Amino acid sequence: MPTLPKDTFDLVIAANRLPVDRVREGKRTVWRRSPGGLVTAMESVMSDRDGAWIGWAGVPGKAPAAFEQDGMWLHPIGLSEHEIRAYYEGFSNGSLWPLYHDVIVPPTFKRSWQAAYESVNRRFAQEIADLAAKNATVWIHDYQLQQVPQFLRELRPDLRIGWFNHIPFPPVELFMQLPARDSLLHGLLGSDFLGFQRRSDAQNFLRACRQLLAEDDVAVRGDVVHTSDGRECRAAAVPISIDAESMASLAATPEVQHRAREIREQLGNPEQLLLGVDRLDYTKGIRHRLKALEEMYREGALTATRTKFIQVATPSRERLEAYQHIKSEVEQTVGRINGEHSSFGAPPVTYLHRSFPREEMAALFVAADVMLVTPLRDGMNLVAKEYVAAHDRSGALVLSEFTGAANELKQAYLCNPHDISRTKRTILRALESAPDDRSRRMRAMHRQVLRHDVRHWAESFLTNLTVAPDRP
Ligand code: ADP
Ligand code: G6P
Repeated sequence: MPTLPKDTFDLVIAANRLPVDRVREGKRTVWRRSPGGLVTAMESVMSDRDGAWIGWAGVPGKAPAAFEQDGMWLHPIGLSEHEIRAYYEGFSNGSLWPLYHDVIVPPTFKRSWQAAYESVNRRFAQEIADLAAKNATVWIHDYQLQQVPQFLRELRPDLRIGWFNHIPFPPVELFMQLPARDSLLHGLLGSDFLGFQRRSDAQNFLRACRQLLAEDDVAVRGDVVHTSDGRECRAAAVPISIDAESMASLAATPEVQHRAREIREQLGNPEQLLLGVDRLDYTKGIRHRLKALEEMYREGALTATRTKFIQVATPSRERLEAYQHIKSEVEQTVGRINGEHSSFGAPPVTYLHRSFPREEMAALFVAADVMLVTPLRDGMNLVAKEYVAAHDRSGALVLSEFTGAANELKQAYLCNPHDISRTKRTILRALESAPDDRSRRMRAMHRQVLRHDVRHWAESFLTNLTVAPDRP
């Protein structure tokens, strides 16, 4: 393996996770693809570019040596067991994640978590400062790294710094609960450009600056925040997407088409197949979806032999209580539905709690007549876009109004997942609508996703960052 060149990267990506996790398989240690939409999107963007990616390797302890993969330098950051508890599980996923997702579960605030978050953010900043070439572009990702822009700016004022939020940015009335609110806003303002999923997220951020920061610290004019040291930081919506072309062509391969037919056969060739694919997270509305389906099976709107449902639920953040809670609720409900409605060897719900290769995911998308995407809040939801990319005229998408994707996929069967009765009616509408209505809707969404793909997103973000005003 070549040795790592120092100070030579014109593009540096920093995200909490590397695109691969270090995992033990028996006695061996191997690298396996990391979960989540951030990695799905950035992996395809970085396959076209040279650069370095800085992030955690997913296990406690010292950082493994940097290495090259597909033309990109992966530079692991070490996190101790304490830092994983306090920075990752604590501040990032116990305070920020629930606060930024409409307090679906109550956030917890602890001062020791905040201290760990700050110190890990400083470590990321130092690593970036060591790796970035003069005047390099640095693209920082997501809620785990909101103080990095400021710390990095202090170390390397020559860099062009951008940050993208993959999750929602909450309304100021919620954000102001956060004891660290000023530190995070100042942290983000170290950037030249801030990208958000929706216009309302960018507006929420600008409103938070206006209302919560002192007037002699910042002035907000339009979408630009002017800082007291004479810099400007712009905030705008740049909605993320997927590698739509590659999903569409994968879905069209004879192997995937064959596997899709096989999946349906294995389920006894149901008349209708419904599908849900989510990380097992309380934001995803899996419980609400199952409740709607349970009622529909009970009331006879769905018949267990004719309509089957597959729920893929990827394991996520398993040491956190809120995640253990949602997992047991989902498993109990699936057990109850199957207990009440199964015939021998033919349960109505197939529950798959593991990760699958891309080809298998594509086959599931192709096999499904109706995709159920019902989050209570989601920054974007790439699964919705993947389903749409895999279908050009068949299929139907039931989509929650509380996803970023609903801003773009307007021809979906939109629903409010909190309203179980209407969600049931929406699922029935999707199942029963005329083929030409479904096909018209799907064609429009397919075109939208192919046109606004992940490359378009990355180019928009980087163009916004490049044209950001020069520093004084
Ligand atoms: P989030 O980022 O919150 O997890 P998204 O829907 O935006 O949600 O992105 C999830 C990504 O993870 C998608 O690319 C989806 O295909 C992928 N994914 C979800 N579940 C699985 C699974 N069980 N196996 C493999 N990939 C999965
Ligand atoms: C979402 C977040 C990502 C995160 C991913 C998986 O997509 O926006 O930042 O990486 O979920 O979550 P995890 O906690 O396993 O990294």
